[in-house]
Amino acid sequence: MKTFYLFLSLCFLTINTTFSQKFENLALTPPMGWNSWNTFECAGVNETVIREMADAMVAKGLKDVGYEYIVIDDCWQIGRDKDGYIIVDKEKFPSGIKVLADYVHSKGLKFGIYSDAGIKTCAGRPGSKGFEYKDAETYAKWGVDYLKYDWCFTEGQDAKTSYKLMRDALYKAGRPIVFSLCEWGENKPWEWAENVGHLWRTTLDIDMKGRFDGNINGNLIGWSDLVDKQVGIEKFAGPGHWNDPDMLAVGNNDMPINEARAHFSMWAMLAAPLMAGNDLRTMSFSDQEILTNKEIIAINQDVLGKQGFKIKDYGNFEVWQKPLKNGDIAICLFNREIKNKKYQVNWKQMNIKDFAGEYSIKNLWKNKEIGTTNTNFLIEVPARDVVVFKLKK
Ligand code: GLA
Repeated sequence: MKTFYLFLSLCFLTINTTFSQKFENLALTPPMGWNSWNTFECAGVNETVIREMADAMVAKGLKDVGYEYIVIDDCWQIGRDKDGYIIVDKEKFPSGIKVLADYVHSKGLKFGIYSDAGIKTCAGRPGSKGFEYKDAETYAKWGVDYLKYDWCFTEGQDAKTSYKLMRDALYKAGRPIVFSLCEWGENKPWEWAENVGHLWRTTLDIDMKGRFDGNINGNLIGWSDLVDKQVGIEKFAGPGHWNDPDMLAVGNNDMPINEARAHFSMWAMLAAPLMAGNDLRTMSFSDQEILTNKEIIAINQDVLGKQGFKIKDYGNFEVWQKPLKNGDIAICLFNREIKNKKYQVNWKQMNIKDFAGEYSIKNLWKNKEIGTTNTNFLIEVPARDVVVFKLKK
């Protein structure tokens, strides 16, 4: 009898440990893709939009520079059947999700979807609470590659437990799916989510209109405000587990070029997921150029996976560093002022970490080699703009 119980508890332990993990070797660099929310929200998302966005991701050269996920955010789901399986909103997605996922895959891209740990999603659609295993099974069957998992309507739930539950459900379903936690940083996921998901939101939503700074009900949500909230949590990010300051607002509401360039550069420096949220079909040429700047993307995608950090703060003018592979270094001068700023670059006095020897310098947005770190110089950084240098050993 005793051996039988021992056997039973061993079985239980094995089952438990087998499923208590996330999929490893996913998102080894920050995920890149497109998500429907920032432009289409609930009302505008549908099958045609998703298909056309997959087409545009290829046609406009985003796929070539590394964007791969097409993610449907909220509002694809409408109810549950008598067995508890999720029902797709057939008005928006008449062909069903599987067909759409197949289409996205046929373009050489990956497919993502959205749900919520509570009883309802933020837009009031059915959440996954109580149906985690059924939903994970469905996603795997459809060929989902990425799940964004939100935190609305979760009163009384424990974040760690809720996110681990979905992690385990996904693992059991057997299809490698990038797991994106979206609990807005409320429970400091950077402290506990490394083994739960592949990325976690660190803040409330970015202002979809792409404002530089500002607040809603006292919450700072302009993209530059979100940058401030990443200070100090850089040590928690690395290959397979990223801090997520939310999706990009480049291209939304005619964000000025300088601000778009600064926003994109700072997300690159932060090793943030690069999830575009603009209408890729109709984006301006300058937004396309910004989103597809290979050298800025290379900073974001550097295999070392180090999140950038602030090394100088002069109030509205900051210097950021991101260590890169082979001892290379990215430096970003970020001018938050609404007027141009002259800055004396003095390489030895910038607090650059592990700065040793001589480096060649390239100004990435100007696409210009500008000598070596043996020479200091004065530079002008335009209003609400950046200058990004790559220092090469
Ligand atoms: C929350 C999330 C957003 C978006 C919406 C959808 O606000 O933080 O990113 O997914 O819900 O309803």
